[in-house]
Amino acid sequence: MSDDDFVYHPACRLSDIQDNIGVPVEVDGRVIAVFRTEGEYFAIDDACPHKGAPLADGVVYDKSVTCTWHGWRFSLESGCWMDSPRTRVATYPVRVTGEIVEVGIRKG
Ligand code: FES
Repeated sequence: MSDDDFVYHPACRLSDIQDNIGVPVEVDGRVIAVFRTEGEYFAIDDACPHKGAPLADGVVYDKSVTCTWHGWRFSLESGCWMDSPRTRVATYPVRVTGEIVEVGIRKG
């Protein structure tokens, strides 16, 4: 998949993001959690697939986020639940343009 497969939408400003703290944003009608950790940006659906907790509030560690409600841990790279990778949250590409953090939504 290339950048041409996505439409990038402004999500927040660079100054809105701190390392290892999720930021909930609304992009194209979805609520998405944006993270910066270990020098990289990640974006995943903000709703935990277990009971719907906001993953932006989760604990970030080793490119993963742990849901604060019941401890399910998700890879920020793949969106997979670490205990059972068939369960996952959607992931989105992130790019930074100037001071703006943009999230890519797949076309179509
Ligand atoms: S709601 Fe996330 S682990 Fe239960």
